[in-house]
Amino acid sequence: MELLTAIRERRSVRKYKSKPVPEEILMEILDAARLAPSWNNTQVWRFIVVKDQGTKAKLSETLRPTNPAKAAYLDAPIVICAAAQRGLSGFYKGEAATNRGDWFMFDTALAMEHLALAAWQFGLGTVHVGLFDGTKAEEILKVPEGYSIVSMTPLGYFDTPPDAKPRKPLQEILYLNTYGESYIK
Ligand SMILES: Cc1cc2nc3c(=O)[nH]c(=O)nc-3n(C[C@H](O)[C@H](O)[C@H](O)COP(=O)(O)O)c2cc1C
Repeated sequence: MELLTAIRERRSVRKYKSKPVPEEILMEILDAARLAPSWNNTQVWRFIVVKDQGTKAKLSETLRPTNPAKAAYLDAPIVICAAAQRGLSGFYKGEAATNRGDWFMFDTALAMEHLALAAWQFGLGTVHVGLFDGTKAEEILKVPEGYSIVSMTPLGYFDTPPDAKPRKPLQEILYLNTYGESYIK
């Protein structure tokens, strides 16, 4: 599958089949995450592959009942959790190099989207999940001090891809030279 096709066709998947994911495919997908760019190549991300049903159930409990991804943690055979070390990405000699603070969220998001697109190319679904109790998730996953869980995604096969969610047209989000100057008239 072409990269652009994967970008166009990827959807957040929240209903999974229990069918196992072959180990070699899982490793290919994780390798795509590993290859993502990062601030000064700091690679602050770490990935925890959760296959244990009890741990997946505990992680599901860190999502609010209204979170539409909650049940997916139980159904999908795998949940991939992205942890990141704080205080390195976006820092120079221990000081924040920009007025944007720590860039760990940005770097880890790039890696997780690499992962999501690679998964899609193998016919596997993901959904980036950000709305969860991070402190509880870090406890469950035994994440060391200085690291934060950034996001977690179920990974697995699905029946039919969900409908596409609408996106704003380029005309609405694209400017020429300075903010507010329409690019597409
Ligand atoms: C940073 C981030 C956090 C998200 N958190 C959640 C979440 O907690 N639960 C959920 O069901 N979806 C979550 N999503 C998925 C979005 O709802 C989804 O990407 C968006 O509605 C567009 O749909 P699509 O991915 O199918 O194109 C999150 C996405 C991002 C990028």
